[in-house]
Amino acid sequence: PRVLVLAGGLSHERDVSLRSGRRVAEALRSANIDVSVHDVDADLLPALSQTRPDVVWPLLHGASGEDGSIRDILDLLDVPYVGTGPRASRIAWSKPVAKSVVARAGLDTPDYVTLPQSLFRELGAQAVMAAVVDKLGLPLVVKPSRGGSALGVSLVRSATDLPQAMVSCFAYGDVALIERAVEGIEVAASVVETSEGLRALPAVEIVTDGPYDYDARYNPGRTEYFAPARLTSAQAEAVGATAIAAHEALGLRHISRTDLILQPDGTIQFLEVNVAPGMTETSLLPQAVVASGWALPALYRSVVENALP
Ligand code: DAL
Ligand code: MG
Repeated sequence: PRVLVLAGGLSHERDVSLRSGRRVAEALRSANIDVSVHDVDADLLPALSQTRPDVVWPLLHGASGEDGSIRDILDLLDVPYVGTGPRASRIAWSKPVAKSVVARAGLDTPDYVTLPQSLFRELGAQAVMAAVVDKLGLPLVVKPSRGGSALGVSLVRSATDLPQAMVSCFAYGDVALIERAVEGIEVAASVVETSEGLRALPAVEIVTDGPYDYDARYNPGRTEYFAPARLTSAQAEAVGATAIAAHEALGLRHISRTDLILQPDGTIQFLEVNVAPGMTETSLLPQAVVASGWALPALYRSVVENALP
């Protein structure tokens, strides 16, 4: 098949997306697939009509890539693509909405509040701090309610950290998600759909000596990964089942990565899900593929073939 990879775009995660696009294209080429990469800008429609792909793989991260808008266009044009449709993408892209959907499906997710920037301004930092700490305690994690690659995310250990955390968060979006921070093993659980059906890949464990921020994600050596994660087989199975449950509850398709914390008491807390998980050299899903025993070219080829009409 002829594959068109969409990458780049104009989100905060443009550079990450270009790296993901390059890596996936390389892997597909070595699986003898005819693939081209298009850096998405205003000429998306001419690019689609010129290349006439059998299937598109949207590897755009962040807004426009993960909020459903590119997928709306592909649906309108009747172009097959790898991944989740627009409606479910929009739901998954909003962290608070995704949390409420998976909570209804019976998964655990840390307690949270959402706060628009306008309300933060109106109430003032002092009042917000008092109310939030009263409801959720400390420590907290503040993140943009829509966003990726940990941009604008801060850990708040004491109430005095909150104003700075809110400012960083609002640099990336106008609604903050303030979540109770939970301790435990941080794992990423990827789900892929091939011709053999939907399956969870081995979880990847993330160990950092500081925050797992943008720098720790994309600079090799900053983070230690264990693929597969150092879990008992019962824990590994529960993590995989949680990722499948989140994927299905949210109506996702073909590929996703669910980020989770495994608490010491065995509870698995859902943090968020990604409809366009990073595919760079330091990203989690490719490490999970390798840990599963698949070669990247073969797995990506199988994902593409499964997405063909
Ligand atoms: N948002 C980045 C690309 C990730 O989740 O891997
Ligand atoms: Mg994410």
